[in-house]
Amino acid sequence: MKLVLVGLAAILQIATGAVIGIDDAPSGMGQDDPTIFEQEGVKMHVSFAENTQGAFRVPLFLRDGQDPESKRKERLERSRRMKSFAEKPPSPSDSAATLTNVRDYYYYGYIDIGNPPQKFSVVFDTGSSNIWVPGAACPSSACVEHRRFNNTSSQTFMGTGKKIQIQYGTGFIAGDVGLDTVKVTSAVMLRNQSFAVTNLEDRTFELPRSQFDGLFGLGFTGGSEGGVKAPVDTMVEQNILKEPLFGVKLFRSSEKSNGEITFGSYDKSYSNKLSWIDVYGDYFWATTMEGIYYGDEPTNYLYGADKINSLGGSLTPQEKARASRKALLDTGSSLLYGDAFTLAAMSTRIGADVLSGEIPCSAVPNLKPFRFVLGGKSFYMNPNEYIYHDEASGVCEVQWMPVSEYLWVLGIPFLQSHYTVYNIKDHKIGLAKMAH
Ligand SMILES: *[C@@H]1O[C@H](CO)[C@@H](O)[C@H](O)[C@H]1NC(C)=O
Ligand SMILES: *[C@@H]1O[C@H](CO)[C@@H](O)[C@H](O)[C@H]1NC(C)=O
Ligand SMILES: *[C@@H]1O[C@H](CO)[C@@H](O)[C@H](O)[C@H]1NC(C)=O
Repeated sequence: MKLVLVGLAAILQIATGAVIGIDDAPSGMGQDDPTIFEQEGVKMHVSFAENTQGAFRVPLFLRDGQDPESKRKERLERSRRMKSFAEKPPSPSDSAATLTNVRDYYYYGYIDIGNPPQKFSVVFDTGSSNIWVPGAACPSSACVEHRRFNNTSSQTFMGTGKKIQIQYGTGFIAGDVGLDTVKVTSAVMLRNQSFAVTNLEDRTFELPRSQFDGLFGLGFTGGSEGGVKAPVDTMVEQNILKEPLFGVKLFRSSEKSNGEITFGSYDKSYSNKLSWIDVYGDYFWATTMEGIYYGDEPTNYLYGADKINSLGGSLTPQEKARASRKALLDTGSSLLYGDAFTLAAMSTRIGADVLSGEIPCSAVPNLKPFRFVLGGKSFYMNPNEYIYHDEASGVCEVQWMPVSEYLWVLGIPFLQSHYTVYNIKDHKIGLAKMAH
């Protein structure tokens, strides 16, 4: 669930200029969750919460969604989208309607809300700004199947009377905004934080697909639905963080740990390696994207739409407008999402099937890195980072999927390749190649 959904919400917000947001942040220590473990029967890795040098570390659990059925569906979906692109570029609403079928993987951690604390598993999502958890009275099966927040059991809960809805592609949630203590770790405790308690949830959030209970948006208040204060802004305002930033480390399922977020500090072994770029806008962790290059070739795929004329005919003004791009660094998206023209050119260049995204595994060692120019600086993804090798089926395939929007979403494959630090006060993102 990698919040393909959340990524989409962000896309809609930035593309339309409308502000969607949410509030609220919960808190909690990451621990293994036996209930969910059994429900899902899914292999998970466990890491541990610890405080080191003033960094408040939240372990993230990787939900491995690369089971054969999920991958099969993903391939069908990629093929479907690429085909419709070949026939006619899909409209934004077409692509919005298809995203719920995409099922990949996501990371989640734990928070506590209220006094006494009620615990929830949440996806920490840099592509949205609201916190929400299922409500005790919510009749939707997505709510009934998960932990639910009971506002009468918390001595510190306060209602606000405000109602919000958040649209994620075809999925959505609706709920009431309340205020309470949200605990991310024992030291990262947000007082009077607004969050949404749902009274309706789309089937998108049902089990087994959505193994997490709710969402913890890490974007800014400017991107929050209902204009409620985003948890990162609360953290800075309430002076909770030693430094006004957080660091995100996402490991692959084949590695020992799952991932972690540190609030108030970051892994200092990356200090000298981080390249800092400016955040675009005041919504989420977006930046400008000036180009995508393959190896040393001068070709810039973002401007090289002529390369794919064989697929789509001549360029429309809209397609030309795609030359000016933004990219969202999104912990809540499973793949890289971009426009079909550019992605088709990239697939063609490396010899992958444009529709299915498949490529012979034997070709992968000879491929070059892709270079993404973000905020004027270069960041690389190696072939084993942009190609996914599905051990179960023996299939190798690209880790991208079209969404036909001007906003690119650099999701988990990019973030597994880079350690990222998010400076809330300065609106800057630091990136360094991940040490594996
Ligand atoms: C909420 O908790 C109270 C006790 O604290 C309980 O009486 C009530 O039934 C709960 N509500 C729901 C909807 O579960
Ligand atoms: C508390 O939850 C109940 C449902 O359990 C709901 O009817 C009520 O409106 C909520 N109160 C506030 C202030 O949100
Ligand atoms: C909590 O926040 C609300 C609105 O954000 C505000 O009206 C209220 O005064 C705050 N309460 C405390 C105790 O800070």
